[in-house]
Amino acid sequence: MHPWVKRLKLVNFRNAENSVYEFENGLVFITGNNGAGKTTVLEALGLVSFLKSFRFAHDREMVRFGSSFYRVEAQYHDKDDTHELAIAYGKNPHDDKEAIQKKYTFDGRLNEKAVNIIGRISSVVLSPDDMRVVAGDHTERRRFLDLLLSMLYPAYFTALQHYHRALKMRGQALRAKDDEKVLLAFDRELAISGITILEKRRQFIPEFSIPFSESVRKISGGKDAWRIVYKGETAQVNTVEDYLEMLKKYRANDLRIKQTTSGIHRDRIYFIQESVGVDKIENGKADVLSHEDFSRHEIRPVGSQGQKRTAALALKIAQFSYMRTKLGKTPILLIDDILNELDLTRRAQFIEFLDSANIGQVFFTTTDLTGMQEFLKSLKRKGVVQNIEL
Ligand SMILES: Nc1ncnc2c1ncn2[C@@H]1O[C@H](COP(=O)(O)OP(=O)(O)O)[C@@H](O)[C@H]1O
Ligand SMILES: [Mg+2]
Repeated sequence: MHPWVKRLKLVNFRNAENSVYEFENGLVFITGNNGAGKTTVLEALGLVSFLKSFRFAHDREMVRFGSSFYRVEAQYHDKDDTHELAIAYGKNPHDDKEAIQKKYTFDGRLNEKAVNIIGRISSVVLSPDDMRVVAGDHTERRRFLDLLLSMLYPAYFTALQHYHRALKMRGQALRAKDDEKVLLAFDRELAISGITILEKRRQFIPEFSIPFSESVRKISGGKDAWRIVYKGETAQVNTVEDYLEMLKKYRANDLRIKQTTSGIHRDRIYFIQESVGVDKIENGKADVLSHEDFSRHEIRPVGSQGQKRTAALALKIAQFSYMRTKLGKTPILLIDDILNELDLTRRAQFIEFLDSANIGQVFFTTTDLTGMQEFLKSLKRKGVVQNIEL
């Protein structure tokens, strides 16, 4: 079973003033020159899926220059039903004084909550930016984790929203040197939502490690093996009380540097070579945070460029199979520019994945039509193929 997007309408979204696309349930190629708006179409498809830009853009950056709002509408099939979902951001063109808002509509119901919209269309994005999850810092890794878990679990998404609001307010309180009572109120909010997030992450890491390791092994021809390790000040935290205790322990430090220095927003995700035992790194001092020790054995300093590319691709392939297992639905694949970017080996592995994974609807962008023909030739299972030229 796989949901698929039938129609997409963009109004004042990036360079699209008013564009409508009708898609087939199959392999959809979006072709056009640089700057034509190919990535924009995928960005909009990602937006209706996880409510954010996969290009890390803010909403205001996606509003067409000179406009005051954008609107993206998607019509999609799920089971035997057709649904309509819309996201609008900006100022009401009919009411100048109204504040900037982001609004969601589902099947004609206005002002739906974000949590009721996210993940209705589930998708996985593959783009050159995936390298940032592996080669970038821990913020990018947490973002990967948060996005995936938010699409799967509404409670996770809600907890994240609460957590970030409380974190922001605690930061303000720290800077204003408010009294401890104010801090304590925010601590409590951080602890309650923090525990929900922590529990889901802890459940996720070992489960996700299985398809990830398998994918890495396949793509590297058995040469690479990475283990995902989750670490941080939260290591000893199991309950709301533990969480509060941790915040208390760092409070003096927080007040000094005017930031909340412990919690799920500071935890780290490491990729460690499987041959290097985690116990060896910890060296019997597991309760001491050994960020330096882990960083030294991490893919960032240790992995070659090729190994990082392999891990980045493996993450997305693993995300696809993990989401499908958890949801019982095949996510849509949004593949931006990577057909030309993959080297021969990884390209072959990627094609094998597409052939074997029982994929649903897949969107590809490419400038290069010859590359697309080559690619299609190597693919065994094609089904419907559509080309939309921008
Ligand atoms: N907010 C915006 N308003 C208008 N045009 C924009 C905005 N943001 C980006 N663009 C333009 O939209 C065009 C399409 O970009 P993009 O989708 O990245 O193209 P492609 O992927 O086909 O190379 C680019 O020319 C870019 O400069
Ligand atoms: Mg592009």
